[in-house]
Parts: sequence; structure tokens; C-alpha cells
Amino acid sequence: MGLKEKFINQCRKPKGLFGKWIAKGMNKGHSEMAFWGVTYISFNPRDIILDIGCGGGMIIYNFAQKINGGKVYGIDYSDVSVQVSKKLNEKFIKNGIVEIKKGSVSSLPFSESSFDLVTGFETYYFWPDLINDLKGILNVLRPGGTLLLVNEAYKCNDEKLRKRNEKWSKLGNFPIHTPQEMEQFMLEAGFNEISINIEEKKGYIAAIGKK
Ligand SMILES: C[S@@+](CC[C@H](N)C(=O)[O-])C[C@H]1O[C@@H](n2cnc3c(N)ncnc32)[C@H](O)[C@@H]1O
Repeated sequence: MGLKEKFINQCRKPKGLFGKWIAKGMNKGHSEMAFWGVTYISFNPRDIILDIGCGGGMIIYNFAQKINGGKVYGIDYSDVSVQVSKKLNEKFIKNGIVEIKKGSVSSLPFSESSFDLVTGFETYYFWPDLINDLKGILNVLRPGGTLLLVNEAYKCNDEKLRKRNEKWSKLGNFPIHTPQEMEQFMLEAGFNEISINIEEKKGYIAAIGKK
């Protein structure tokens, strides 16, 4: 396996020391995209939030700083991601604002209608059963709750970025979608009021759907 494939496999599921380094690196590398993405949702400090595929825990940390009365949960199926996220959010975990669990998007360990907001940054294209996984998210969202998916890896209009994304998707054997395809799969899973927001120059996409 080449270095690039090893890198993508680590992004898919960080493992060992290299995985720890990758999870920390994603905290830096994805922050601009993530902070751009969250400008499209309305945040309430009393919200109960779940970040799926939380990686190094950067977005959890960011939400936790603004929480007042709410709570932020994180879930990831990688032991290393859970470990790095827990370390970063140690002080918030101690005071009960944050809880991070190991688990898969395909069997979310939460009851029905638990969350106001569910987020996923650079993760959905790794999920094993997209439509059913999205239906599972719909189940844990409260009525009127929001799902936010933010990505760099999508089929964008910019030829250079699109070629780069297609190359990574082929190397890593994961699907990437056009904005129309993203809208379609969210509709198929049962979301409504879908909005797709794009940052053309950077090549970011933020897809939002409501329960
Ligand atoms: C590319 S990283 C993104 C991490 C973080 N969201 C960020 O933007 O920096 C993808 C993360 O999703 C997690 N992941 C992938 N498939 C998953 C699944 N089926 N269930 C839970 N987590 C998953 C991986 O372990 C990894 O931590």
C-alpha cells in the first residue's frame, strides 16, 4: 500500500501513533472548513448537539465553549479518535458539558429525539450504509432538529479541485457526490427543508436538512 492510501485509511479510521498524529492534524486542517460550515446553522447555547465522526474533537471543543445549559456529545468508531477528542475536551468532560463515546453511526447509542443538532465534518462518505445511517440520525434528532454535513471532498465545479477530490475518492475507495446528489440522498433518507451551501473558491460544501 502506498503512502497516500495509508494516509486515507488513517483518515477513515485513525489507528496507532500515526492515527493520533492524523487526528490532531485534522483538528487544524479542517478547522477553516468547519467554522465556515457552522455559519449556516443557528446555534443556541441550550442546544443538545451530537458530532458524528468527531476525529480529534476540535468541533466539539468549539461548540462546548459556547454552550450554556446545553450539552455536546461526540461519537467515533476509532479508539484513537475517541482518545484524542477526550484529551482535547478534558475540562468540558469534567464539568459535564461534553460526553464522547466510541460507536458507529450505524447504531447510534442514543434514544429517539435526543438532539437539536447533529453534525458530521468530512465523514459521511466513509459511512457504510448512507441512507440507513442518515435515517438513524433522523431518529435521534428531535422534530425540527437540524443535520449539518460539511465537506471538502465533493464533486465541485472547479476542475482542479474536482480532479483532486476524484483522485482521493478513487484511491480511498469512497464515494463523492455533486451538490444535487447530496440533496437527493438527504431527501431519500427523509430530511426536508434541505439547503446546500457552497464556497466555490475553497471548494467547501455545507448540506443542511431538517427533521
Ligand atoms: C476524515 S476524519 C474527520 C474527523 C473530524 N470530523 C474532522 O473534520 O476533523 C473521519 C472521522 O470519521 C470517523 N468515522 C468514519 N466512519 C465512521 C463510522 N461508520 N462511525 C463513526 N465514525 C466514523 C473516523 O474514525 C474519523 O475519525
